[in-house]
Amino acid sequence: MKDNESQFSSKFGVVAATAGSAIGLGNLWGFSYKAGIAGGGYFIAIYFLFVAIIGFPIMVSEFIIGKAGKADAITCYEKLDKKNTIFKWSGIFSVTGSFLILTFYSVIAGWSLIYFYEGLVSGFDSFTPARSGMIFNSIIKDPYLSISSQIAFMLLVAIVLLRGIEAGIEKISKILMLVLFSIILTIAIIGFFLPGAQDAYKFLFMPSLERITNNPLFIANTAMTQAFFSLSLGAATIITYGSYVDKDTDIISVSRQVIIADTFVSLLAGIAIFPIVFSANLNPSSGAGLMFVSLPTGFRMMIGGRVLGVLFFGAVVVAALTSAISLLENTVSLFVNRFNMSRTKIIIISTIIAIIIGLGSQEAFVFSMKILRWTGKTKFLDQIDKLALGVLIPISTLFTILFTGYRLEYKYIEREFKSKKSAKIFYNYIKIGLPILIIFLTMGDLLEIIL
Ligand code: PHE
Repeated sequence: MKDNESQFSSKFGVVAATAGSAIGLGNLWGFSYKAGIAGGGYFIAIYFLFVAIIGFPIMVSEFIIGKAGKADAITCYEKLDKKNTIFKWSGIFSVTGSFLILTFYSVIAGWSLIYFYEGLVSGFDSFTPARSGMIFNSIIKDPYLSISSQIAFMLLVAIVLLRGIEAGIEKISKILMLVLFSIILTIAIIGFFLPGAQDAYKFLFMPSLERITNNPLFIANTAMTQAFFSLSLGAATIITYGSYVDKDTDIISVSRQVIIADTFVSLLAGIAIFPIVFSANLNPSSGAGLMFVSLPTGFRMMIGGRVLGVLFFGAVVVAALTSAISLLENTVSLFVNRFNMSRTKIIIISTIIAIIIGLGSQEAFVFSMKILRWTGKTKFLDQIDKLALGVLIPISTLFTILFTGYRLEYKYIEREFKSKKSAKIFYNYIKIGLPILIIFLTMGDLLEIIL
């Protein structure tokens, strides 16, 4: 097993690429609507806490494993675990999870591409409150539109990956993160002057027990899974990117910066989106509908909304692109490392396979309708979503920290910390405190489902 040769060129490059992976659909749409329905300020406070005490140590652990193993996620576990124990499965789960996420992520990103185009040519003219839902349905059920946009998006992903780590992933992330940030900031500033701004900020930030539909463990669990997804944890990405980091890069400081950037963009996105939703009297708590049904209606109603709408959906595509790149890179890195395949070959093959599996998540595709009947109603997209986010990723994160605490040689951990004392504190926390916390939060939610 050889070491990875490709590398990011600078610390800023590592931060940009990792933030590019972290900042995605999860921030622009997942965070704010979850915050809205799960208790506003309460959710946000718990989310911040979990990002710091759960997300941060997991991200550091994944970077440590990648930097020490210098290979794809599965190989890293094998190389670093002399006894070859079950921890290899963490790698298998995480790479599989990330590939599965990519299959439906590209479908949703494809819809965003259609909306970007739609805004460009028609300025969302036909998106009245009464018709908006219908239009969304007709778009996602139109096989030509939805499938070609999914393919177009995946081609963009493949093109970036074909250019390699530094000239592809790193370069595009640096540019696109700046573009994305400027767009969201602009919309947030304009949103401040809209009539619904106050209500929007209240909805987002005011602690509200009324809006908590389930018990407190539900909020805690939602906050934890949202943190995992938003920070790209448990999905092999941070390990893979960690393997492209040179030995002098301070991965603790990288993790801190990525986490701050990711959380900041989540908040900013909420501050940008909700004033538009409230000013147009739209429903703030509808999941997928919020982005594709409510928002275009809002943009149509506001002055300058056409330009902002196009910019917004452009930002969504950009955010999704840098995340999807990282999702596919895990598989690419795996096949390059283990099977000595050429990057070009594996990028082409895995792109095609991701597109084919992704078709299952297309409502327009007959096959997915068959599965629907066969599995009794639940959509393929929802099932893949549950399997990846509800099972593979939580198990893999738990394995990752247990591996770091009980299998990884301590020297790999110690060398990343400035003082011996902080290394020890981190180590002890990873061994005992953190696993207990994660198990408790996961079990709490499971118990609630069972009872
Ligand atoms: N973090 C990305 C988002 O918020 C999704 C993602 C998950 C990307 C796991 C890579 C790995 O949308």
